[in-house]
Amino acid sequence: MNFKVAVIPGDGIGPEVVEQTVNVLNCVGDKFNHTFEYEYLIAGGCAIDEKGVPLPEETLEACKKADAVLLGAVGGPKWDDPNAKVRPEQALLGLRGGMNLYCNLRPALLYAPLKEASPLKDSIIGDGIDICVVRELTGGIYFGERGREEIDGVPGAYDTERYNVNEVRRIAKIAFETAMKRDKKLTSVDKANILETSRLWRGVIEEVAKDYPEVTVNHMYVDNASMQLVRDPKQFDVIVTSNMFGDILSDEASMITGSIGMLPSASLGEGKLGMYEPIHGSAPDIAGKGIANPLATILSAAMMLRYSFNLETEAKVIEGAVLKVLEEGYRTGDIMSEGMKLVGTNEIGRLVLEKIE
Ligand code: IPM
Ligand code: MG
Repeated sequence: MNFKVAVIPGDGIGPEVVEQTVNVLNCVGDKFNHTFEYEYLIAGGCAIDEKGVPLPEETLEACKKADAVLLGAVGGPKWDDPNAKVRPEQALLGLRGGMNLYCNLRPALLYAPLKEASPLKDSIIGDGIDICVVRELTGGIYFGERGREEIDGVPGAYDTERYNVNEVRRIAKIAFETAMKRDKKLTSVDKANILETSRLWRGVIEEVAKDYPEVTVNHMYVDNASMQLVRDPKQFDVIVTSNMFGDILSDEASMITGSIGMLPSASLGEGKLGMYEPIHGSAPDIAGKGIANPLATILSAAMMLRYSFNLETEAKVIEGAVLKVLEEGYRTGDIMSEGMKLVGTNEIGRLVLEKIE
């Protein structure tokens, strides 16, 4: 089969981790007789430099026409001026919103060989952590009205959290479907003791729950959830939550599995088109040094094969290859622990290829 992949390397370590991932895709293509056709596009800080805008129209249009989008990372100190009119992060929101990718799947899996890299104690980790965060991605405070205005006679600012029942219902359905394929346990995270949007959210979750009697549902306030994630992560199977809370909790979930450098993500909408990116950022401090961990992006490509291309076997081959590399003791700096073999970006990428072949 032939697949069209729009590739956005982006800023910072983005290009390095994407390069390794494209090698992996090609290798899978050779092995299973698929052709991946890449169209390289710019977005983020590099697009601001080149075109003055974080998300050039051509980039969004090309992404919409592709079968899937692979993205490295965007942003960096160069474009971090809080007063700037254009910011690299706007590219991400523009891509997510522009393609209507309202569902963000962020599986936080602790690979057994990485137990040492987790900041949690063995007694808490037990036989492993396997959580899937389902984050709403095109609504809430990320997309609500914001601005500056005088408040009580002094300069002020505001952001607005807004959700309608349709937005909550569609993400709830995906979360329940995800739970059905896993341990049938869903935790909906909100702040219903304070926020009206959370009370609406809770109501919709309860309503959708009626269609999934097999799934055990519980509701948790976000402050408690962030605490429970480190106190007893094994209580979680699927977590469904709003855009903002999902952003925060997925970083936390990633860290307890060893490193933010390991977590992939899939952003999905109604059709097959999806965007795949690591949840880590552009890590400007280590960009260009050849030490970044490309595994989160490589694992994102596995998700691409699974969700956009229906290539489950091929996806598993990539995931298996990553596990093998870890089992053999190879580590990038972020997941390094005593007695392991420290390797760089290219080397760990090459090792993944070797395992696939
Ligand atoms: C993420 C990132 C983005 C987000 C930023 C870079 C806009 O943190 O994908 O989690 O907040 O969604
Ligand atoms: Mg984030």
